[in-house]
Amino acid sequence: MKIIEVKNYQEMSQRAAEYMIEKIKSTPNLTLGLATGGTPLGVYQHLIEDHKQNGTSYAEVTSFNLDEYIGLAKDNPNSYYSYMYENLFKHINISPERTHIPSGMNKDLQAECEEYENKIEQHLGIDLQILGIGSNGHIGFNEPGTSFQAKTHVVDLAQSTREANARFFNSLDEVPTQAITMGIQTIFKSKEILLLVSGKAKQNAMIQLLTGDVTESFPASILKQHPNATIIADEEAMLGVKDNSLFK
Ligand code: F6R
Repeated sequence: MKIIEVKNYQEMSQRAAEYMIEKIKSTPNLTLGLATGGTPLGVYQHLIEDHKQNGTSYAEVTSFNLDEYIGLAKDNPNSYYSYMYENLFKHINISPERTHIPSGMNKDLQAECEEYENKIEQHLGIDLQILGIGSNGHIGFNEPGTSFQAKTHVVDLAQSTREANARFFNSLDEVPTQAITMGIQTIFKSKEILLLVSGKAKQNAMIQLLTGDVTESFPASILKQHPNATIIADEEAMLGVKDNSLFK
């Protein structure tokens, strides 16, 4: 696992976006794995600016998002469908048929999960997966304790995850209790992974990730075994790692 330390959120976003743009230019039919949440917003801003200024084309790009809340319709402003549309898709020339986000409204959630997993397989997997990390080490919505073998599945969100995400809703009560997420196995099969980490709230997660064991109780730890995973972390997120006695 390679670690690139950058100064701040802006630099993290820029570095990640530049990397993605290079990949898209060299492989126009790239299959991207995309994340939501606060972390990738700056990256998406850069991708949009670059698309407008330099015309980087997404016409042949396929995307698969990591997750979606259960019970939120596409047009709910807090659905990840809306998030992706508002923060990226409507600003670039990606074709809607090539974007994939699991539906949290399917009456048969099990079938939805299987279909999503199959679609990813039909596309021969994800070429470049963008990830954020939860303060409890979750990736996608794979909460601590999830099997490393898990494929796309339904999860009960941890209380800490619901509390962290309440900032996007009017109240904690409105945050769904369940989600569909790509599994850890699904994520791990990506050919390349870029984990973005910024800010104080992620300091403990970084200590655990860089100094702890590979364990299902800290899902992101599996990335240490991935052949092509890179972390771009900012100074604030790395502060605890540097203060940690193991690194002295
Ligand atoms: C988002 C996702 C989550 C987030 C994580 C960090 O699609 O799968 O794993 O990446 O919860 O969220 P932020 O970026 O809001 O700190």
